[in-house]
Amino acid sequence: MTNSETKILAILGNPIIHSKSPIMHNTVFDYLGLNYHYVAFDVKPDDLEKAIEGIRALNICGANVTIPHKIKVMEYLDEISDEAEAIGAVNTIVNQNGKLIGYNTDGEGYVRSLIEETNSDLTEKNIMILGAGGAARAISFTLSKHNVKSIVIVNRNLEKANLLKDKLINNSRVNIIHTDNIRKHINSSDIIINTTSVGMHPNTDQSLIQKQWIKPYHLVSDIIYNPLVTKLLLDAHESGAITHSGLGMFIYQGIIAFEKWTGITPDSEIMRNTVLDSLTTNN
Ligand code: ATR
Repeated sequence: MTNSETKILAILGNPIIHSKSPIMHNTVFDYLGLNYHYVAFDVKPDDLEKAIEGIRALNICGANVTIPHKIKVMEYLDEISDEAEAIGAVNTIVNQNGKLIGYNTDGEGYVRSLIEETNSDLTEKNIMILGAGGAARAISFTLSKHNVKSIVIVNRNLEKANLLKDKLINNSRVNIIHTDNIRKHINSSDIIINTTSVGMHPNTDQSLIQKQWIKPYHLVSDIIYNPLVTKLLLDAHESGAITHSGLGMFIYQGIIAFEKWTGITPDSEIMRNTVLDSLTTNN
């Protein structure tokens, strides 16, 4: 139930109908008894600037921004965090007394989920990242702030991978390889992260990694969560490796946004169960 005191949060995307963010956040607001309400708005690209003005005019206290607006929205904000600037995209807005500040919680969300859900320590680890798109930018930027030993970025388009390398912190630890050379480098990797769309519904029988290349000492992570268990993760599990699924990144990017809006850390299990229920019942 909303009233005149209710603080409104929004998500702006196009399309937005399938977003699980409203149910995830609203369930936790209800659980914690916080007078907030999170609403989805389908905003066409041409209307984005007006929608951002609407956040100011209506005193909406914060927002998420999703496909296709994550890059364009940066033009209309008052301030961009260093991390969002380096990643080149914003997924979270905080309205600080009329000043709109843009953040990117995808990389931080991913890394927090990886550490907490697999009980891993990233120190001195060799990391292989498959892909060099938006998700790879967010994840590799956050990983480059950690004390990892090396990062190998794997992509078909090497120019794109090189542009990504240039943005990273301590990038002398970062190497670029072509997708055809995964096999040569996989044995020296501790953590393998798929950020590409290979294996995503409906192409669920695809993977960039052959099953026999995966060893029990690998930690294999896939940011895809449709399906929840990709071919890559199934192969990794059957090879005795530790696995980490993409749902965690979605949950934890939401947790970090929630913290920025409310100052409170919500329970990750409530959020996860809400999203899982919603995915299985297709709400
Ligand atoms: P996102 O923003 O979700 O990361 P993106 O920016 O479109 O999406 O990036 C997709 C990534 O998946 C890219 O690195 C892309 O590789 P290229 O840059 O070489 O195109 C990678 N990718 C997509 N389909 C692929 C495939 N079939 N094989 C290998 N890599 C693929």
